[in-house]
Formats: sequence, C-alpha cells, structure tokens
Amino acid sequence: MIDKNIIVACIREPMEQYHQKCLSTIGNWKPLVAVSEKILAGREVQDDEVPSVFLFLIEWMQLIMEVTRDSEWDWSNPAIQEIYRKIAESEIYKIFADATVGIVSSIMRAVPIGTVVEIGTGPGQVTEGLCREMARHDISVPVIISDKTPGIARTGERLRKSFPRLSIHDFVWDFRNEPPEELVAQLVSPVLVYERFCIPYGGYSSIDRIAPIADILVMVEDLNLTGKKEAYDIIYEKIGSQFFTYQEARKYLEKHFPFIHTCDTKTIEAINLPVTDFILAMK
Ligand SMILES: C[S@@+](CC[C@H](N)C(=O)[O-])C[C@H]1O[C@@H](n2cnc3c(N)ncnc32)[C@H](O)[C@@H]1O
Repeated sequence: MIDKNIIVACIREPMEQYHQKCLSTIGNWKPLVAVSEKILAGREVQDDEVPSVFLFLIEWMQLIMEVTRDSEWDWSNPAIQEIYRKIAESEIYKIFADATVGIVSSIMRAVPIGTVVEIGTGPGQVTEGLCREMARHDISVPVIISDKTPGIARTGERLRKSFPRLSIHDFVWDFRNEPPEELVAQLVSPVLVYERFCIPYGGYSSIDRIAPIADILVMVEDLNLTGKKEAYDIIYEKIGSQFFTYQEARKYLEKHFPFIHTCDTKTIEAINLPVTDFILAMK
C-alpha cells in the first residue's frame, strides 16, 4: 500500500511552480472565453485582445475551425499529429507539460513505481520531458507509451533513440477498449498511469478501461467546474473532444479509486479558471 501523504507531498512543488507560471504569464483566463466566442462566430481577433501566452491557443482554435469546415479531423493522419506537435511546443502547453512531468517524476523519485504508463501519447512532448527527468535522476522504471494511432511506433522509435538507457515500449491502444494483452503482460505494480488532454476523446467510460491498470492516476484534463459549455468547448468538440465536467468524471473515478485529490485549487481561484486541470487518483 502506497502512503497517500507521500504522494500528495510530491505534487506540492510542481503545483507551486505551475501556480507561479500561471500568475505571471496568464494572469486571468477570462479574456480567452470572449475571444473563443469571436472565433466560433468566424469574427476576426486582434493579437492585443489577450495575453500573448494565449496566441497559440487562438491559432489552434482558428486552425480547427478552418480544417473542420470541409473535412473530418483524424488524429491518425500524420499531418494532424505534426500540426499538434507544433501546438504542443507552445509556451502555454509547456506550462501544463512541465507540471505533469514534475508531478510524475516527483512520485517516481519518492516511491518505488513498477511501471509508468502514458495513454494518448501523441507526438510525445510530455513523454520526452519525463524521459529527460528520468535520465537526469537516473530512474530506470520501464515506460510504456500508447495511443490509438499507429504513429505511436514512430514516437517510440524517436524516444528510444534519444534515451537509449531507458526501457520504452509503445503500444497501439484505443482506450475505449480494454488494454492489449501484450501491454498488460508487461505491467509491474505499482503502476503509475498519466495522461494529458486525451481522455475526453474517448468519453467518460474510457475511465473504466484505464483505471483497472492504474494504482496511481495523474489525470491532466480540462474538467469543467461551472456546468457551462464555453465557445472553446464547442470548438474542441469539432476535433472529437467531448465536454467533460468534473462532477461526472469524478463519478467514474470514484468507481475505481478511493482517494481523489484536486491538485490545482489555488490556481483555479487565482486566475478564474472554469476548470480543474490536475487530478490525482489512487487505490
Ligand atoms: C490533444 S492530443 C494529446 C497528445 C499528448 N497527450 C499531449 O498532451 O501532448 C490527443 C491524443 O489523444 C489520442 N487519442 C484520441 N482518442 C484516443 C483513444 N480513443 N484512445 C487512445 N488515444 C486517443 C490522439 O491520437 C492524440 O494523439
């Protein structure tokens, strides 16, 4: 049995760093809501309407509107993964990536984890950050990455080349289904599962497929706290991301995890976030 107090202590420093970065770069989330309404309505947006850290998100939303106007968004398309890779390199995505890596690597340093599993890895920016931290701290826990797209093999190859001393295995896993047997066969408990911005593409019931393999789950998603669907939620629905509320997601998590902790309460209040982004769940 892992001591929950130790795990909760692990999130303190990365969450404080996240908080400070959000205060200094974002300050206030609300302008993004107004601007997303304009984008959804097809109106022009001026660069000076929002803090510069949001500009990439604006480009991302404009691009989604453009691409989905006359075609279906397909995550298996390498061109789409390449577009997302660039977006994920933006400062705002990096703030979330750094916090995710900070939490996961801090847990790995504090308790003996058997396997670390990432779901919905995509082009692997978060993974790369984690591998860098693992190499820096000489952590040799086996890493499993997964995605529903076959492109996960390329991401695995790239990471194995960059981090030859780490054990990294890639799997095609659509988390709307049970995990592949070959993946499950490689798991050594306790298993730490983490993810960023992918579960809402599979719907709430994906949590029922993911949770059984996780002793600890670090879930990084925009979980709505207000019940109000904003314009950007409607824009993200165009690429398959479903509107997720904290209340409903928690119901699914509670089926599997007796301990659920919201990590970013202080930041939510400080920058008027209508969502929680960092949830820690444990068995
Ligand atoms: C927004 S990207 C996030 C990628 C990465 N987690 C990150 O934060 O940079 C969403 C990813 O989820 C993957 N995805 C979508 N639906 C999925 C499903 N049902 N099962 C597994 N992966 C899925 C997509 O292929 C894509 O790579």
